[in-house]
Amino acid sequence: VISTLIRERNDELFERAKRVVPAGMYGHTFVGLNPPSYPQFFSRGKGCRVWDVDGNPYIDLMCAWGPMVLGYGDAEVEAAAARQRSAGDCLDGPSPVFVELAETLVESVPHADWSMFAKNGTDATTLAVRIARAGTGRDKVLMAHGAYHGVASWCADNKVGIAASEQSDTAYFEYNDLVSAEQAAAALAGQVAAIVVCPMRHDTRRDVELVDPEFARGVRALCDRIGAALILDEVRCGMRFDMRGTWEPIGVRPDLSAWSKAIANGYSLAAVLGIDALRQPATEIFTTGSFWFGGVAMAASLATLAGMRERDGVGRMSASGERLREGLREQATSHGLAIRLTGAPQMPMMLFARDDARLERSNAFAGACVENGVFLHPRHNWFLSAAHTAEDIDEALLATDVAFSVVRERFGAE
Ligand SMILES: Cc1ncc(COP(=O)(O)O)c(C=O)c1O
Repeated sequence: VISTLIRERNDELFERAKRVVPAGMYGHTFVGLNPPSYPQFFSRGKGCRVWDVDGNPYIDLMCAWGPMVLGYGDAEVEAAAARQRSAGDCLDGPSPVFVELAETLVESVPHADWSMFAKNGTDATTLAVRIARAGTGRDKVLMAHGAYHGVASWCADNKVGIAASEQSDTAYFEYNDLVSAEQAAAALAGQVAAIVVCPMRHDTRRDVELVDPEFARGVRALCDRIGAALILDEVRCGMRFDMRGTWEPIGVRPDLSAWSKAIANGYSLAAVLGIDALRQPATEIFTTGSFWFGGVAMAASLATLAGMRERDGVGRMSASGERLREGLREQATSHGLAIRLTGAPQMPMMLFARDDARLERSNAFAGACVENGVFLHPRHNWFLSAAHTAEDIDEALLATDVAFSVVRERFGAE
């Protein structure tokens, strides 16, 4: 049965926000394009659940858009963060955890010989690009059409407020199409500093495309041939597929990798990992931030990485994601609806085969899920965590079953 959620406090906050924040909200968490059932404001999270400001609970299949991997309020992560917080967070320089975390990452990620830290994914991808430019003495950067590497000027998809000159050194290729990457590189012969690529194609509003290993190997070989750095943007995938790096199972290692989201279970932290050959240019650039050396996020990260290893976080989220996908497939079939489930269990993407660009079925489905206590997104891939149990997934599937029946009722079968 579809509930009518109470939205009193949410709406009141939104009204107040509209007076003091442009549009009341901005960026990826803005719910303006979503069905009306979406809450904008949340009050708390625990395990794999979140509560909106009106007290409505949800099983969370967005995991704060990636950062939550062990569960909200994880006891070990919070204890490590609290210990560091009582000693000090933002001080005149880094705490010992800075070195411990760099050592841990260099030990666990095979391509990494060194690590640098920042706060957000955009910091990490942009820093990696700068190091590649410093190391090659070149300016051009190749990235895939439609890829998201953050909101910095060099890669931003929305061009509003960005001077054309800020993107004049960025050129594009098609993901999983090696010929297009080779052509883009040939058109800028001798000028390419880096090829930036995600471990899989996880653009919004379309099926997720896993990487073709031949493409990954080909891009690696192309970078070697033209003397450019291969930058792997692990911001979204990092620590959800393989703690050594998402491309490690296919044997392709980047020169630089950019990490954030999941590495500190929700604390603000980013890392750039790199190879020895780029250590010197990484030394020569000047980069920093007032909050980049805060120890709390680094202590949280050390506990997160340990927890992921000890609890087989990747295995757990993959098992619960697979259970979710199987359930969704069965339900869609029994409701006579054609869906496309793409990506991998840890980061599933579900679209309706009969939807056009308006994604009406996806919107109806996601809106009904929210009404029935499951938070997911109509246009973006979802995220699983190590905190989702089989019971949580079975409970979420009760809501998705109702949501499929809403789609079926509104749009008919198929
Ligand atoms: C692949 C990828 N790169 C970079 C970013 C930017 O990270 P942030 O939003 O932390 O700046 C994101 C964020 O979603 C991402 O998914």
